[in-house]
Amino acid sequence: MRYLSDGMFLKYVSFIYDKFGIHISQDKKDMLQSKILKLIVKNRIESYEEYFRLLTQVRDKETLLEFSSEITVNKTDFFRENNHFEYIKNNVNFIVDNNKRIIRNNEIRVWSAGCSTGEEPYTLGVILQEHFLQGTYIKILATDLSTRVLKEAVTGVYSPAIKNNIDKYYLLKYFKKQGSEWKVNENLRRLVTFRLFNLMDDFPFKKSFDMIFCRNVMIYFDSKVQQKLIDKFYDVLVPGGLLFIGHSESLTGKKHKFQYLKPTIYMK
Ligand SMILES: C[S@@+](CC[C@H](N)C(=O)[O-])C[C@H]1O[C@@H](n2cnc3c(N)ncnc32)[C@H](O)[C@@H]1O
Repeated sequence: MRYLSDGMFLKYVSFIYDKFGIHISQDKKDMLQSKILKLIVKNRIESYEEYFRLLTQVRDKETLLEFSSEITVNKTDFFRENNHFEYIKNNVNFIVDNNKRIIRNNEIRVWSAGCSTGEEPYTLGVILQEHFLQGTYIKILATDLSTRVLKEAVTGVYSPAIKNNIDKYYLLKYFKKQGSEWKVNENLRRLVTFRLFNLMDDFPFKKSFDMIFCRNVMIYFDSKVQQKLIDKFYDVLVPGGLLFIGHSESLTGKKHKFQYLKPTIYMK
């Protein structure tokens, strides 16, 4: 029971790929085994086979949510890959010149796709509030596959260490001290809507976005899944809208109609 057979490992790998787009290579077998084992022990399940049956045949919703939370990698930070935020700060005129809808609707709609514990969308909120055209209505949708990280994001309470990443001025303006921790204040919190969403699903959006941040998410997908996602992102951006991807990611080798602006920044 403690050992995940190669055959069972491949079944899990295939399920994870089909359901979440996440590609797990053979060298990650020990890591996956220990994550599944933890869930099996916690839920007092008999075997890897029984747990797999719960996931794939019974399709128990809670089991699936717990499983997806466990297998994802959620590393993130405030102001991570800061040149993206600097780009927005320094190119407001360029952004609105190329995307007339922002001024017409007096609204900017941003999607943080794979938002983890909220640092990325909250950073976006700070930057847009501080540096975008004053009075523009800011709407940030932040989605993730993991209910565990979303719960933390909604709570918006962060460790004392965040003061190493956030400028003191922003920290005092957008957070309030809670014991030794920092809690996002209402002015920032109200800019962001958090939702559970699997990027493999059809996009249900009625309105398009002016910017999409999908950073350090596609690295877990293979080329085929990345290509599909890039096409879907293109479809839900307005003309002139921007796509930001992670620093270790690139659209090179993909078929796409985006205009390249800078490494990891693209315009529709
Ligand atoms: C490494 S974090 C990146 C967080 C943030 N974007 C950043 O760059 O700091 C990747 C996030 O993508 C999420 N993710 C992975 N696969 C996903 C999928 N199929 N649908 C939605 N989110 C997914 C994970 O749950 C995780 O929170």
